[in-house]
Amino acid sequence: MEKIGFALLGAGMISGLHADALRKSSKGKLVAVCDVRTENAQKLVETYAPDAKVYSDFDQMLADPAVQVVNIVTPNHLHTQFVLKAAAAGKHVLCEKPPAMSLAETDQMIEACRKAGVKFGIFVQSRMREPMRYIKKAIESGRFGKILRVDVQMKWFRNADYYKMDAWRSNRKCGAGVTIQHAFHYIDLLHYLMGRGAQVSARMCNLAHPDVTLEDTLDARIDFTNGVTGYVQASTALWPGNDVRVEVYGSEGCAVMAGTAMAMWKFKEELPEDEIIRKSGSSAATAGGDPRALPSEDHQYVIDDCVDAIREDREVCIPCESVRGSLEIALAMYKSDKEKAEVTIPFADENSIWE
Ligand SMILES: NC(=O)c1ccc[n+]([C@@H]2O[C@H](COP(=O)([O-])OP(=O)(O)OC[C@H]3O[C@@H](n4cnc5c(N)ncnc54)[C@H](O)[C@@H]3O)[C@@H](O)[C@H]2O)c1
Repeated sequence: MEKIGFALLGAGMISGLHADALRKSSKGKLVAVCDVRTENAQKLVETYAPDAKVYSDFDQMLADPAVQVVNIVTPNHLHTQFVLKAAAAGKHVLCEKPPAMSLAETDQMIEACRKAGVKFGIFVQSRMREPMRYIKKAIESGRFGKILRVDVQMKWFRNADYYKMDAWRSNRKCGAGVTIQHAFHYIDLLHYLMGRGAQVSARMCNLAHPDVTLEDTLDARIDFTNGVTGYVQASTALWPGNDVRVEVYGSEGCAVMAGTAMAMWKFKEELPEDEIIRKSGSSAATAGGDPRALPSEDHQYVIDDCVDAIREDREVCIPCESVRGSLEIALAMYKSDKEKAEVTIPFADENSIWE
């Protein structure tokens, strides 16, 4: 079967993951790359897909009939305008996380893609890691019994240079800061596993990056509507940086994903498949100390699934609708820190968060 044509908008730091995933994919191929810095796009194409076209103008790339899906890989605050344009051009969209900097923009994008009849997925690709798929399935089947606690520990390190690479990386309104930029993946995982947040309480501080006015550390509590309480400890101040741990404790068993591997899988009633599940995942690095040290397999999963979704005319594996609640929780964390109070979801006045 002929491969589906993908284009990248944005050829910066993380674009290599997308290009590598497409190079390895048997379902999609990279046909075009657009970046205002054409040299970035040129370099990416030379490295990963010499036949792909280079554009500096997004409208021109959208007019290319070979482009069927656009991956939006620009800085966070720029996602919305490009998703809207891609949808208007009838292209399917896979957008990097977070979907946008507000729920209003997120809703606008969801509606535009729905009206245009195009797929709209988000790269919160940790959901698709093998251990996480087992954990999700076990929660859905009730295997954990009563869920007692879920939590995330993200003890990462980013040096001062990371925040100076581009202006947006040190600007809160553009989507910088450990909460929305780094911990978002893991806030998303807790939301994915537990459902909608009800109350959020968060405190943020800057432990080790005095040159930027951002939080590099987050401590938060989320009370979910299902009655479970979750905790997030996240930082980019903790040298040398370690694998993220996501832990689920239930009355009947517990599971821990560390990095991309299943670090613990223990149930009071053992099943024959548990031995295999315990060995699931890999030892690949997950950006604990180096932002580029990420496996492309999870991106490839999302890309390949999008091709299948187009062919089978079904929903993609991570539709934007399913990530909205993760953004709601992350924004509630900012509001809670700003007001030094617990925030009840839903909350009004989301724009005041960044003032
Ligand atoms: N899923 C993940 O694991 C993961 C990891 C890191 C970053 N990200 C996300 O990926 C996105 C990009 O991050 P990055 O680190 O690659 O950023 P970056 O700043 O390194 O790269 C962004 C690129 O977009 C280009 N760009 C900016 N404005 C443009 C425009 N108007 N038209 C065309 N190109 C434009 C820039 O020139 C740059 O090359 C962000 O949303 C970020 O949150 C996701």
